[in-house]
Amino acid sequence: MHVFVTGASGWIGSATVDELLAAGHEVTGLARSDASAAALQAKGVHVRRGDLDDLASIRAGAEAAEAVIHLANKHDWSNPAATAAAERAAVQTIGDALVGTNRPFLLASGVAGLTRGRPASEDDPNPSHGPESPRGGSENLAFEYIDRGVHPMALRFAPTVHGASDHGFIAIIAAVAREMGVSGYPGDGTNRWAAVHRSDTARMVALGLAKAPAGARLHAVAEVGVPTRDIAEAIGRALGLPVTSIAPDDVQDHFGWIGTFFSMDLAATSAMTRELLGWAPTGPTLIEDIDAGGYSVPTRISG
Ligand SMILES: NC(=O)c1ccc[n+]([C@@H]2O[C@H](COP(=O)([O-])OP(=O)(O)OC[C@H]3O[C@@H](n4cnc5c(N)ncnc54)[C@H](OP(=O)(O)O)[C@@H]3O)[C@@H](O)[C@H]2O)c1
Repeated sequence: MHVFVTGASGWIGSATVDELLAAGHEVTGLARSDASAAALQAKGVHVRRGDLDDLASIRAGAEAAEAVIHLANKHDWSNPAATAAAERAAVQTIGDALVGTNRPFLLASGVAGLTRGRPASEDDPNPSHGPESPRGGSENLAFEYIDRGVHPMALRFAPTVHGASDHGFIAIIAAVAREMGVSGYPGDGTNRWAAVHRSDTARMVALGLAKAPAGARLHAVAEVGVPTRDIAEAIGRALGLPVTSIAPDDVQDHFGWIGTFFSMDLAATSAMTRELLGWAPTGPTLIEDIDAGGYSVPTRISG
């Protein structure tokens, strides 16, 4: 199958592309820079130059392919509204391009905000609707295309898709620890984060492309919930820093914008995804990755 991948050069995207190529797919990746284009070309991926703001390029890429996997995201944490607007516009553009084709359209999503007080499951609908909502309501927007002859599937990634050289949330939390000289956790540190290794995530995406029905909510989750206190203790061990609780009122000052996420209970299950896809995560756990030194050296932070 010829698959158009946005974000093909990213953390999840580059591993996903490797899985797709190994499965015999032809891949075209959206690249916004010479460096990203070169990295894709080096592994045999066709390159479509373009930016998330270049909707004509995204439309053309979607029209020319037999499936689309949308993983690009601006991740401009200083301007979440612009990031969400770009996400929504890209999803709408891809959806419009695929109307009447019944082609697979897999889009990145997450597990935040799905439930309170219990882990989120695939049965939990995403409450975000409309342009003002988190991620621009993109998961529900994509699902609106089911009635218009598109085959959308949500890729709900755990808040940490971890591994060596990760530049996502855990790398940012480790960077805060380095800067503050202490590895903090919010409050009593009992709130949890679901976690999954990057290799398992990429395999799940490729299996989802092959097997999942329209409207599937696929949970890339290996661990239901790792307490934030355990995460902070592992980062403290890895960096040789003391570990401490950060009072809820001080979380924003201490962590900055990531404090909001680190204070949330983001636990999620994946039993239905495992059953549906025959997927079984096999990669290291989050704590194993931190203990192995995956977050001991600074990495380029996402954005
Ligand atoms: N990683 C996680 O733990 C996690 C958890 C939940 C959800 N997600 C979601 O999963 C998706 C993939 O995440 P990721 O961790 O792989 O992100 P990432 O490593 O930051 O990669 C982002 C990708 O988007 C591209 N990109 C950024 N801005 C762009 C723009 N203006 N125009 C075109 N392309 C642009 C980047 O291109 P360059 O390589 O050229 O910079 C890169 O390929 C995102 O939607 C993310 O929000 C990730």
